[in-house]
Amino acid sequence: MEPVTFGLVGVGGYATVYLRILRALENEGLARISAVVIRSPEKYPKEVEYFRSRATTIYRSYDDMIDAERGRIDIVALPTAIHQHKEMTIKALMSGFNVIVEKPPAVTIQDLDEMIEAEKKSGKFCVVGFQLQSKTVVQGIKETICEGKVGDVKYVLAKGKWKRLDSYYERNAWAGKFMHEGKYVLDGTVSNPLSHYLMSSLFFASMERGRAAYPIRVRAELYRGHRIEGEDTSCLDAEVDSGAHVLFFATLCSPSESRPSQRIIGTKGTIDWTFGNNAYIKYADGSVEVIKEDGKDERMELFRNTIRYLRGLDENINCTLELTRPFVLTLNGAYESAKRIKQIPDKFIVRQAEGGSMATIILGIDDIIDRAFEQKLLFSDLGVEWAYKTDYFPLKNYKCFSLTP
Ligand SMILES: NC(=O)c1ccc[n+]([C@@H]2O[C@H](COP(=O)([O-])OP(=O)(O)OC[C@H]3O[C@@H](n4cnc5c(N)ncnc54)[C@H](OP(=O)(O)O)[C@@H]3O)[C@@H](O)[C@H]2O)c1
Repeated sequence: MEPVTFGLVGVGGYATVYLRILRALENEGLARISAVVIRSPEKYPKEVEYFRSRATTIYRSYDDMIDAERGRIDIVALPTAIHQHKEMTIKALMSGFNVIVEKPPAVTIQDLDEMIEAEKKSGKFCVVGFQLQSKTVVQGIKETICEGKVGDVKYVLAKGKWKRLDSYYERNAWAGKFMHEGKYVLDGTVSNPLSHYLMSSLFFASMERGRAAYPIRVRAELYRGHRIEGEDTSCLDAEVDSGAHVLFFATLCSPSESRPSQRIIGTKGTIDWTFGNNAYIKYADGSVEVIKEDGKDERMELFRNTIRYLRGLDENINCTLELTRPFVLTLNGAYESAKRIKQIPDKFIVRQAEGGSMATIILGIDDIIDRAFEQKLLFSDLGVEWAYKTDYFPLKNYKCFSLTP
């Protein structure tokens, strides 16, 4: 197979992961980095030296690469900041390139719809970097659901308890922001670090292959423990078009880091999965089936799927722009329902030095999330002291997010 050619935009932040993957795929003969955009070469002397040594064209600006490489590279890879995704994706598609854009592809439904429109007009494709969609266990769970083995899906639950230090928010200008450079970022648990599990939850909530369930209405609570503009702790309940409820609980203010878990409750059985482990299907008659974790790197698999799709070897892209529409609608519905991000009062917060930075911990948050998950209740329903009640926000015909911070 002829290697698929890539134009990589950026070599810092998450782009380092793209670089690692593409180099591994180059070694397998599947890919070739033909061009790279490094806008501040002084920040990346090692990468500049590396690309010079192999005679890869280095561009100082995205526009220069797009203009010069038309018709010469297959896929533009965009591991860039959230608020840049729409413009950069549309530019690449309309210039005749296929695209891999990082998650979230967009944070407003109007932006995503513009991207989908551009994809249709261009005749090219855009893959979204929700790598869980390329994970074997996730695909196994979806197939189990679609075969009807757990019956009708009633609930899909997800919980994530991570810790992020202040240094995480200091790594760039947009982290933790509601808006940046006049554009929505909505950076937080729902849109960014734990968003994979909201995306997979909506995917599991539909019993149709290749489809994620659409939210009908969403009730959500958004909080912050850190001194940021955005949210770092959230819970939401999305009633979806399959009749199921998707419940998502997340924080970046946990005292320690644990692997996110998911539970799918059907009329004939329950599936439990913790990231990195096997998934277990427990049937109503007490029998148990296992879906094996195969140890494959889902980030690599995302790229492999894209390459194979381009070469006509895979029939479908694991995560298309269209597949993420329910995710973006749920994200917008969550902000509309919450209306504001509530600062958790100081008396419930511990800030302590850690790793040359500061950790922010919400007292009792792990227990709160575990109880919310088990009881299928939002934080305010549990009676958490700092929680506030919200109403369901209906999403029928919802077309434009325009909330102000
Ligand atoms: N899938 C996952 O598990 C995962 C994990 C982490 C992050 N992400 C996603 O990855 C994306 C990037 O996040 P991040 O935290 O790495 O962002 P970041 O810190 O802003 O880094 C973005 C990188 O893109 C480069 N860049 C941006 N615009 C550019 C342009 N016009 N030309 C050339 N280079 C450009 C930046 O270069 P400079 O250094 O010169 O600014 C930097 O290297 C986000 O969408 C995030 O949600 C995904």
